[in-house]
Amino acid sequence: MPSGTVHRLVYMSTAVGVLRAEELDRIYFRAKAANAQASITGLMLLYEGAFLQVLEGPVAGVSSLLERIRRDRRHANITVLEAGPAEERLFPGAPMRFIAARNLSPGEKQAFSDLRQAVGARPYMPGSPAPGADNGLGAFLAAFNPLRAV
Ligand SMILES: Cc1cc2nc3c(=O)[nH]c(=O)nc-3n(C[C@H](O)[C@H](O)[C@H](O)COP(=O)(O)O)c2cc1C
Repeated sequence: MPSGTVHRLVYMSTAVGVLRAEELDRIYFRAKAANAQASITGLMLLYEGAFLQVLEGPVAGVSSLLERIRRDRRHANITVLEAGPAEERLFPGAPMRFIAARNLSPGEKQAFSDLRQAVGARPYMPGSPAPGADNGLGAFLAAFNPLRAV
């Protein structure tokens, strides 16, 4: 990965309808290819109809990707939990790691549900303070072992 300031963006959103496995595959494979081109790495979780995605990379690439993702009708209620410069990538090494619900431990499922509740359905507001800063997001993300993700 080229050096330079890393920008980290974390959001949660709600899947619209029931996403079929092939649709999810399409999103995932597309993300892997496009993110690799843009030096973006990250993590994607899907549990009980909610997405949590971490995008890390150059600020311009992350911002334009967020705009694309925001227009995607396969999800809604996009709420940015964290957005800003980061000391290092939390999930380096792969353009997008995906952890399916079946691979979450009971504790992780509970933590995900708690986080989702804490976040609520806040509207997306560019430049607004990150609600994730005080709701345990950092600890939540740190608990994920990147090696386990596929
Ligand atoms: C939850 C979710 C996460 C996504 N993550 C990415 C991603 O990390 N990278 C990416 O290129 N596209 C991602 N997409 C797909 C984009 O929203 C978009 O469909 C894709 O980039 C193609 O955009 P385009 O048709 O404007 O070229 C994601 C979609 C969803 C619903």
